[in-house]
Amino acid sequence: MAATDSIHGMWSSRLMFILAAAGSAVGLGNIWRFPYVAGENGGGAFVLVYLACIFLIGIPIMASEILIGRAGRQSPINAMRSLAMDSGASSGWQVVGWMGALAGFMILSFYAVIAGWVLSYVILLGSGAFVGADADLANNTFQGFVGNAWSVLGWFTGFIVLTVFITARGVGRGLETTVKYLMPTLFVLLIVLVIYAAVTSGHFTEGVLFLFSFEFERLTWGSVLIAMGQAFFTLSLGMGAIMAYGAYMPKNTSIIGTATTIALMDTGVALMSGLVIFPLVFANGLESSAGPGLMFVTLPLAFGQMAGGQFFGCIFFILVAFAAITSAISLVEPAVAWIVEKLEATRVVAALLVGALVWLLGLGSAFSTNILSDVFIVGEMTFFDTMDYVTNNIVLPLGGIFIALFAGWVLDSKIRDEEMKGDLPYYPIWRFLTRFVAPVAVSIVFVMTFLQN
Ligand code: PFF
Repeated sequence: MAATDSIHGMWSSRLMFILAAAGSAVGLGNIWRFPYVAGENGGGAFVLVYLACIFLIGIPIMASEILIGRAGRQSPINAMRSLAMDSGASSGWQVVGWMGALAGFMILSFYAVIAGWVLSYVILLGSGAFVGADADLANNTFQGFVGNAWSVLGWFTGFIVLTVFITARGVGRGLETTVKYLMPTLFVLLIVLVIYAAVTSGHFTEGVLFLFSFEFERLTWGSVLIAMGQAFFTLSLGMGAIMAYGAYMPKNTSIIGTATTIALMDTGVALMSGLVIFPLVFANGLESSAGPGLMFVTLPLAFGQMAGGQFFGCIFFILVAFAAITSAISLVEPAVAWIVEKLEATRVVAALLVGALVWLLGLGSAFSTNILSDVFIVGEMTFFDTMDYVTNNIVLPLGGIFIALFAGWVLDSKIRDEEMKGDLPYYPIWRFLTRFVAPVAVSIVFVMTFLQN
């Protein structure tokens, strides 16, 4: 172990860091959430705002997280604390790390519920349950499944057990081994599916037009906030997941280049998912604005109508399951690493502890579509909806502002220059975006959404 290595282990190469970070970024956010929020918010114009957020806010903040993680070589909480102190600032900056670890719990608590639905859909599609199905059958199957508290609970628990298992095995044997095999498989499957949608649906151009025709009248500040929240969520930013992974990244590799690569991969997967889903939706005369059920109702229905749909539908949900598990392990990493550092516990104990807490919190989300479907936390939002809305649209962007301010203004310039020396031509652009553009843009969106309501 080199003197500058993390006690938790290290990625064996830059490529492995990229696969792990892309594994974190590419997930349900890309395949389940992006198409349905784009659909609900009218397509094109929303996508354009989302892309602007990725490039102007997302990439600079991702580079900031990698920078802080790699310079700190510890869990986000301790990295923020010790770097703040080394920079002559208050140790109170560790609050950003705390907020992030908490956000990880909140996100995984609903994320694992959806991932559980996905696992059960692998079996359902593979067994041919949707072959020749009509809209009623697809809808009733979905409602019947999510309405059954026991089956939702079972799959949700299974997904958490899997997450704990991989996490407990450690950075090298657990995390790296998982992403090394799953991510390349995921990319291949996705390309196969885009070709399948393009060839068999006959409505590919309609899907393309839906994603890329810009109708600005449909855009409100509320939908701009959702586009921005989606950008944070899809890139895993604002809560320390990428920071935690950055702590295991080898020195002397470019940070901005790596962040850009990861963001491009993530954006590519989101757009490609849209290009699988919307042509199938239009080919079958379905609603693009169907909401969270889009992937679980319209897609099985579409696959049920198409040649080879049983096979390709099953493959599709396997791909989504892969994407979900490589993201879930990054959601617990900040908390797990901190427990190992602070309590000197083993990773096995830390992973079990975090898994148990997430499971408890997640009961609220698992039961939001059945036992607790009439219990509203804020307005008309169930526990599930509240966790999703609050983390995406408030906690992550807020965390992002503080991370940008910390990396841009607070961090000792010697540390910053040293980490960024591999990025010279882009360093000033990054610094400008991080110091000014990202914090100001996020603040404006917050204020305008608030004023408009
Ligand atoms: N980026 C993941 C997705 O798009 O599904 C979700 C996620 C993972 C968000 C890790 C935040 C995070 F820290």
